[in-house]
Amino acid sequence: MNKKGAFIVIEGLDGSGKTTQAKLLAAKLRKNHKAVYTQEPSKGKIGKFIRNRILYGEKRFSTTIEALMFAADRLEHIQNEVLPALAGGYVVVSDRYVYSSLAYQGSAGLSLEWIETINEHALKPDLALFIDVDPEAVQARLKSRKSVMENLETQRKVRKIYQKFIEKGELVRIDGDKPKTAVAQEILKVATAFLKTRS
Ligand SMILES: Nc1ncnc2c1ncn2[C@@H]1O[C@H](COP(=O)(O)OP(=O)(O)OP(=O)(O)O)[C@@H](O)[C@H]1O
Ligand SMILES: [Mg+2]
Repeated sequence: MNKKGAFIVIEGLDGSGKTTQAKLLAAKLRKNHKAVYTQEPSKGKIGKFIRNRILYGEKRFSTTIEALMFAADRLEHIQNEVLPALAGGYVVVSDRYVYSSLAYQGSAGLSLEWIETINEHALKPDLALFIDVDPEAVQARLKSRKSVMENLETQRKVRKIYQKFIEKGELVRIDGDKPKTAVAQEILKVATAFLKTRS
């Protein structure tokens, strides 16, 4: 039994399977580890505000304000959910993290350097995975619950930024165009190999 905590984040475009896969990974890891699923926007007050009023509500703020809100929510997420779980020896699997801010607010025109600056207090993940999907192919998955960020052109721009972080070696690419079970297998393989190196 590996008692050491780890912070794993799952990133990807809208509808790429992040929630499906992050929950599955946490469940599979529970065979050998303590594991917990968390997500951004978080369950905290700022997270709820972002989810209800910005992503699916009518109120849009400037991109700059939105970036600051996501960064503030991230610190709440870390303080209230991630750090306590890590201290308890849990593997934390987060559905979205700082790369979402870089990719989405970056695609909306903000500089990546500034987004990095406002997130400089955010804990660095131990392992960051990117579920890579064809933006066009996943549009069909989204039709019933489109948020404000989801048009195809935006998704293409967002993917380009994620790709930069794959090239830098910060994100590990997972082929997300395969069926759910195949994607889950690949993610479990990468996560397990990583956790072994730390035990
Ligand atoms: N590999 C896959 N192949 C086909 N459909 C999938 C696959 N993975 C997930 N789905 C389906 O696509 C939809 C979106 O999946 P999911 O909610 O996990 O994505 P998400 O990345 O969390 O989306 P969002 O960004 O909107 O939160 C769901 O209906 C899910 O069942
Ligand atoms: Mg989701």
